[in-house]
Amino acid sequence: MADKLQWTPVQEYLGTLVPPRDGELGTMEADAAKTHFPIVGPVAGHLCYQLARMVGARRVFELGSGYGYSTAWFARAVVENGGGEVFHVVWDEGLSQRARVHLARLGYGEVVRFHVGEAVAALQQAEGVFDVIFNDIDKDAYPASLPVIAEKLRSGGVLIVDNALWHGRVLDPHDASPGTSGVRELTRLLGSDPGWITSLVPIRDGLLVALRR
Ligand SMILES: C[S@@+](CC[C@H](N)C(=O)[O-])C[C@H]1O[C@@H](n2cnc3c(N)ncnc32)[C@H](O)[C@@H]1O
Repeated sequence: MADKLQWTPVQEYLGTLVPPRDGELGTMEADAAKTHFPIVGPVAGHLCYQLARMVGARRVFELGSGYGYSTAWFARAVVENGGGEVFHVVWDEGLSQRARVHLARLGYGEVVRFHVGEAVAALQQAEGVFDVIFNDIDKDAYPASLPVIAEKLRSGGVLIVDNALWHGRVLDPHDASPGTSGVRELTRLLGSDPGWITSLVPIRDGLLVALRR
């Protein structure tokens, strides 16, 4: 299912179109491949960077940040937009520590704010609103995160959600697991609410891209 869904030759072709990454980002990609850690990867990362540049993002909040790979793409956009803040939020202390090292080496230490804890609660407590919110937390928690995200994303801001295809499981009518149901429900909520303009972009495992009206 995953191979058919991701249309492997197309995904590989898209990979050849992403500009070359510098050493540290390449190392992070190699680590993910070696350990099977689910980073967004270069094609989706590049789209995140592009979207953040397009809306002139100066404040970005990530829910479920890992060891900082997706954070690096957002930090690059924020720096190029004139500076600001990218919130790296994950509940694994070890991943947060690794992210600090990578992002410092990339020169983004100044713009990234690190928080170890549950991401939706951290967003709820964060001051002000954001230009971009990126959601990559456990999939069963996706639907409950939406009211908090809607409150914290500025009008004209962009929500990006990873794993919208969930390795093809969303297409399997027999799969009613909490993760698959969570992804389906968030997709339904965003698509049916006139407060959002939403598309599912079938890069890698699928990105929901939603503009807040
Ligand atoms: C898919 S990985 C993140 C990958 C990262 N976005 C990237 O592309 O580089 C998700 C991470 O978020 C953590 N996580 C999941 N749900 C979370 C939550 N509700 N609050 C904080 N961290 C969470 C997981 O333990 C995991 O380390």
